[in-house]
Formats: sequence, C-alpha cells, structure tokens
Amino acid sequence: MESNLIWITGLAGSGKTTIGKAVYETLKNKYVNTVFLDGDHFREITGQLSSHTREGRMIVAMQIARMCKFLTDQKINVVCSTISLFKEVHEFNRANNSKYYEFYIHCDMDELIRRDQKQLYTKALKKEIENVVGVDIAFDKPANCDLEIDNTQQNNLEKKVSSIINLIK
Ligand SMILES: Nc1ncnc2c1ncn2[C@@H]1O[C@H](COP(=O)(O)OP(=O)(O)O)[C@@H](O)[C@H]1O
Ligand SMILES: [Mg+2]
Repeated sequence: MESNLIWITGLAGSGKTTIGKAVYETLKNKYVNTVFLDGDHFREITGQLSSHTREGRMIVAMQIARMCKFLTDQKINVVCSTISLFKEVHEFNRANNSKYYEFYIHCDMDELIRRDQKQLYTKALKKEIENVVGVDIAFDKPANCDLEIDNTQQNNLEKKVSSIINLIK
C-alpha cells in the first residue's frame, strides 16, 4: 500500500490537534506505519528559532511539508495537523505526495475568540500582540481541499474522524 499524507489545517483553536490525533489513532490500528506530526510538536522537537511572522511561519510550514514528504517517500503514513494556511505549502504537498489528502477545519471566528486557549485572539484584537493568523496575518483557505469540516461546535468527534477516514482509499 502506498503511504498517505493527511494534512489537517485550520486556524488556532479550530480543532486540528484533536481531530488529527483521533484520525491518527484510528489509522494506526489498521496501519502501524503511521505517525502523527503536529505543528506545535514540530517547533518543540526542532527547537525552532523561526518567528511567528508570516515569513517565519512559511519557513516552518515548508520544513514540516518537506519532513512529511521525507516520511511518505519511505512508505510511512503521516497525519499532520498544522495551521500552514499558505497556498504554496498546499501546492508543494499536492505536487510531491501521490496520496495527498487535505482537510480544512472551520470554526467561526466568534467561537475561536470564545475558546481562545492560548489568549491569541483576545490579545491580538486589543493590539497587545501581533502575528496571529486570521487577525493580522491573512491566510489562504485551501482552494482544493478534500473536505471542509465545520467544527464550530465541539462535538461529534467520531463522526468527523469517520468523514476523514472514509475518504482515504
Ligand atoms: N469535535 C470536538 N469535540 C470535542 N472537543 C473538541 C472538538 N474539537 C475541538 N475540541 C476542543 O476544542 C479546543 C481546541 O481544539 P484543538 O484541537 O486544540 O485546536 P487547534 O489544534 O486547532 O488549535 C480543545 O480544547 C479541544 O479539546
Ligand atoms: Mg493544535
């Protein structure tokens, strides 16, 4: 079986890590050669010095994309959850992985502001911090994703995971 790259993208707080991890756990039951790579973990394990500006985020997103290709080339399935809302990254993935699946996790901005686990939106809206994607960094909503999942309501995790798994051949 060829390896898959399952790319789960969306704004901070939308539910990428939660959904990605659950997809990984389901897939891992069937295929042991599966890894989960989350954008936050990647920054942690690589000791990232890149900033959170648009340019810094682009550098990290491309590093993640190249790491994923490195793994899929060795027949490892990768579930990757990361903001990386840049069309260059999506295009790179599509061009470089024969079995690429892209999922966009949507959450209404009002709800993101209500969740605000990392206090990003609240602070950015008060202009206390900069470089928050969706506030002062524009993002490319995926143009050709396989599925957009509305996760404005924090529910139906199993159903959302199934909708992803069912598309993977
Ligand atoms: N479908 C869901 N069901 C239950 N809780 C969810 C669901 N989606 C997200 N959450 C919760 O919402 C919050 C944000 O999700 P998270 O996965 O951390 O987002 P992201 O990784 O995109 O920043 C977390 O507290 C998470 O537990
Ligand atoms: Mg996360």
